Amino acid sequence: MYVLGIAGSTRKGGNTDILLERVLAGAAESGAVTGTIVLRSLKIEGCRHCDGCLKTGECVINDEMQGVYPELRRADRLVIAAPVFFMGPPAITKAMIDRCQALWALKYVLKKPVTLNDGGVRKALYVSVGGTRLKDLFLPSITILKSWLLTLQVTYSGELVFPGVDEAGAIRNHPTALHDAYEAGRRLVME
Ligand SMILES: Cc1cc2nc3c(=O)[nH]c(=O)nc-3n(C[C@H](O)[C@H](O)[C@H](O)COP(=O)(O)O)c2cc1C
Repeated sequence: MYVLGIAGSTRKGGNTDILLERVLAGAAESGAVTGTIVLRSLKIEGCRHCDGCLKTGECVINDEMQGVYPELRRADRLVIAAPVFFMGPPAITKAMIDRCQALWALKYVLKKPVTLNDGGVRKALYVSVGGTRLKDLFLPSITILKSWLLTLQVTYSGELVFPGVDEAGAIRNHPTALHDAYEAGRRLVME
């Protein structure tokens, strides 16, 4: 079982980084092999909508997204840890998502398999925080992720989200969040 964590915040060591580390620790405790992609460390351009991928299923842009595609395709579990920025995922996370247009082309235009795992069901957990407690704070991001996961042939297994968490590291003061994250990681592997 390979569990891939995606650190989708621009803030190093921030709240979603802290939660992701706990989720992956829980997954490892359940026997999974874990890996992490830190999006802020990668150069990933936005999709150009050049439609080059419609013919090949591959993106024409030769940047660090090329190393992300095989990881997304082979993981048995995905953990997307990204805060709310203006009611959606941070731009670095959305850039990665948009670049999966190449996988959309692979699947829906070229009718080729997207998954590179052993054929078992793939699942994803969304981990997030937002500084406010606005109604439906996480809903736009959840909608975006579900659309993206359909293309990746990954089942959305749920979310672990905390409103009202703003300062860097504030999540450590939450009464249950770190424990919840660890347990969510353990469960994600067992599901
Ligand atoms: C550019 C930007 C936009 C933000 N937009 C929102 C928002 O729309 N709603 C919200 O509740 N918090 C918003 N926040 C606050 C962050 O979600 C919050 O600080 C969070 O704890 C950051 O998580 P991190 O430490 O993992 O980066 C925004 C922060 C930034 C920097």
